[in-house]
Amino acid sequence: MNKRYAVILAAGQGTRMKSKLYKVLHPVCGKPMVEHVMNQISDLQINQTVTIVGHGAEEVQSHLEGRSLFAFQEEQLGTAHAVMQAEAILGEKDGVTLVVCGDTPLIKSQTIEALLKHHVEVDAKATILTSYADNPTGYGRILRDGQGLVERIVEEKDASTQEKAVNEINTGTYCFDNKLLFEALKRVSNDNVQGEYYLPDVIEILQSQGEVVSAYQTDDFEETLGVNDRVALAQAEIIMKSRINEEHMRKGVTIIDPNNTYIGPDVKIGRDTIIYPNTTISGECVIGEDCQIGPGTEINHSLIENETVIQQSVVRYSKIGNNVVIGPFAHIRPDSVINNKAKIGNFVEIKKSIIGQGSKASHLSYIGDAEVGSNVNLGCGSITVNYDGKQKYLTKIEDDVFVGCNSNLVAPVTISKGAYVAAGSTITEDVPEEALSIARSRQVNKNNYVKNLNIKK
Ligand code: UD1
Ligand code: MG
Repeated sequence: MNKRYAVILAAGQGTRMKSKLYKVLHPVCGKPMVEHVMNQISDLQINQTVTIVGHGAEEVQSHLEGRSLFAFQEEQLGTAHAVMQAEAILGEKDGVTLVVCGDTPLIKSQTIEALLKHHVEVDAKATILTSYADNPTGYGRILRDGQGLVERIVEEKDASTQEKAVNEINTGTYCFDNKLLFEALKRVSNDNVQGEYYLPDVIEILQSQGEVVSAYQTDDFEETLGVNDRVALAQAEIIMKSRINEEHMRKGVTIIDPNNTYIGPDVKIGRDTIIYPNTTISGECVIGEDCQIGPGTEINHSLIENETVIQQSVVRYSKIGNNVVIGPFAHIRPDSVINNKAKIGNFVEIKKSIIGQGSKASHLSYIGDAEVGSNVNLGCGSITVNYDGKQKYLTKIEDDVFVGCNSNLVAPVTISKGAYVAAGSTITEDVPEEALSIARSRQVNKNNYVKNLNIKK
């Protein structure tokens, strides 16, 4: 097989985004656009990928490190000038070079593969991926001759009214004979409205040299959406979101309201799990089978095992076992482990803590920097006092401990196996096994005190 190369264009600032963040780094479903493009390219057999970086070069590189070489475009003089920057790496090679824009996050590897196949089949020297847009505004238009052969591409800003009426658009994805591409690039001028070196001009140059120039149409315009502003960014988000949700549904996940369910591209969900509305699952997450997630839940970078229920809660960077019940209104903060059959109820915050099997914090608690054993009952309002303003300290609560309501456990402190803490206690010293610790002042009842106050009611 012919060697295959790829060039990803990612050097632009993205002026139309009106943003501090460089365009190709704007996320779609939580992942930078350029990374989506890279992922699709990684699914193809490509011998070498070169990404053209300029604005935000370091950041773009950090997202693609190890998967691409990089060429630096110091000044953004246009897409043809951008591809030229790859000459030192690719210029001498024989093979086919694919060029893709970093701002087309919805492009699929299957479509690129079909483009490459078509290119080889018709023995073309350049093939453009085109699609039909209901509203082609902003895209380059494909101009064909009387026999329907591609002649050239005209940019929106350079197009006549008649040319603007064409709705076959340049998707910004092409493949070229590598050597002819770099030769033709040298002949591209910047004599146009924007004063830029346009990559699409290579098509006209090769065509006028008598080379075979072809177009491969995809019937899915959505896939070729170019994101130049925030309106298109929102469109891309909606399309990508429904793609992801549909894939989960086809694999056996119930999503009650797909329009209001936000699942990132790196989330795995087991069969028969039900996702209720207004739920966001982002980052790298694995959710097991038969879980009920949501409504109104946010899960980020976490592992949830099977048959667990999480309602109206936030879970971040944590590991949740089987048959756990969380929420409504719980907050599981990073580095927490909630083991099987545990229950974390309403208005409970857990931070960097381990909760043992079958243990419960059912209401209104803060458990931070704690190791809680199994079958522990943390009564309503149990608080680990973990911070003295300077340092954080550990609380250890061993198996079968019962902590009465409204207790402060002032860390560092250990409540040993089977001990009881009386309600309302402020525990500052370790409690031995099976002991009852009471740390509150005794109740005094002053009989008839009120009656004797002589206050007229
Ligand atoms: C480009 C095409 C247009 C096509 C559309 C598809 C040109 C001249 N026009 O227009 O025909 O319909 O894409 O989405 O190519 N970039 C660089 N260096 C530069 C300029 C751009 O790396 O000097 C990168 C950008 O970061 C971007 C990509 O190239 O990822 C495309 O540039 P952009 O400005 O978005 O071109 P469009 O106006 O969308
Ligand atoms: Mg664009």
